[in-house]
Amino acid sequence: MSLKNTHEIDIVRVSSSKIDSVDFDNLTFGTTFTDHMFVCDFREGKWQKAEIKPYAPFLLDPSAKVFHYGQAIFEGMKAYKDESDDVWLFRPDQNFERFNKSAKRMAMPEVDEEIFMSGLHQLIDLEREWVKKGLGNTLYIRPFMIAIGSGVIAAPSTQYRFMIILSPAKSYYSGEVKVIIAEHYSRAANGGIGAAKAAGNYSAQFYPTKLANERGFQQIIWTDDATHTKLEEAGTMNVFFRINDTLYTAPTSERILDGVTRKSLIDLAKRDGIDVAVRPVLVEEIIEAAKDGSLKEIFGAGTAAVVNPIVGFSYQDTYYELPKIENSFALLLKEKLTKIQYKLAEDTFGWTVKI
Ligand code: COI
Repeated sequence: MSLKNTHEIDIVRVSSSKIDSVDFDNLTFGTTFTDHMFVCDFREGKWQKAEIKPYAPFLLDPSAKVFHYGQAIFEGMKAYKDESDDVWLFRPDQNFERFNKSAKRMAMPEVDEEIFMSGLHQLIDLEREWVKKGLGNTLYIRPFMIAIGSGVIAAPSTQYRFMIILSPAKSYYSGEVKVIIAEHYSRAANGGIGAAKAAGNYSAQFYPTKLANERGFQQIIWTDDATHTKLEEAGTMNVFFRINDTLYTAPTSERILDGVTRKSLIDLAKRDGIDVAVRPVLVEEIIEAAKDGSLKEIFGAGTAAVVNPIVGFSYQDTYYELPKIENSFALLLKEKLTKIQYKLAEDTFGWTVKI
């Protein structure tokens, strides 16, 4: 696959890079940004001239709709450097498609494929020094769109800003991840915006996650809002359960994000003979499996988090610790995925795209 890179972009470069001041061995996720950013505005019913310019704050009217009604969507992607210094993206077509699905659901304009792909290509090409070699080193890519039109009337904006910013990153979680299964709060409901990568889906989780953090848990596994009996998604990741040697994960729905890592792991697992069942996963069956010892693993999957083993979970005030096992599917699948991303294994699916 190759990126459509034909859209003309005005480029203004920084006079001197800040790269030498960055400690690439001690990065806190999402706090360091590269020298440049991509910006393209939507006005008068169309996308305007795109620009790449020095990374900097910008002014918005205090009544801009993003501040009042949260018209904001984003994507999470990564770039990887291989041993020959080539830089690669992983399935950018999937992020592009999901971005426009999110835009549609939030009554925002869809971004042209050429603008999205050319923006990615030219910005990352300019910042390729920021992508460091070696497993675990990545450049996290954050495309996003906000409503910049002014006026507090509760109706969609007519003006939008599509941007891409880049952040060198290692791991998202720094320690062990323990989760609480949601019994009261919900992340999403049928007919809502759960399947969109909308900013509000994340801020809505902050308060219940803060309560979980206070109890020593890093994340919540969300259950369906109607009955709280089905396990759906963790805060920043999709989630997989291994009972004996079968891997279970919930099907995507109006409430669950169609994660790129999630679907890639399903394909990899199936290709390599792991039994995968994509079907509703009941809280009850996981508790039973934890009690009788057949629950071997739970892990989260997402772009930022990659594949993150969960060491234990709490439900109805009982804590269930997961066993430490030798042949972890989480570690096996993580290795298979990252080897493709860093071009250390053959990409039989054609997922990687060169910058
Ligand atoms: C990602 O995994 O890229 C996400 O968008 C999750 C985010 C909250 C870090």
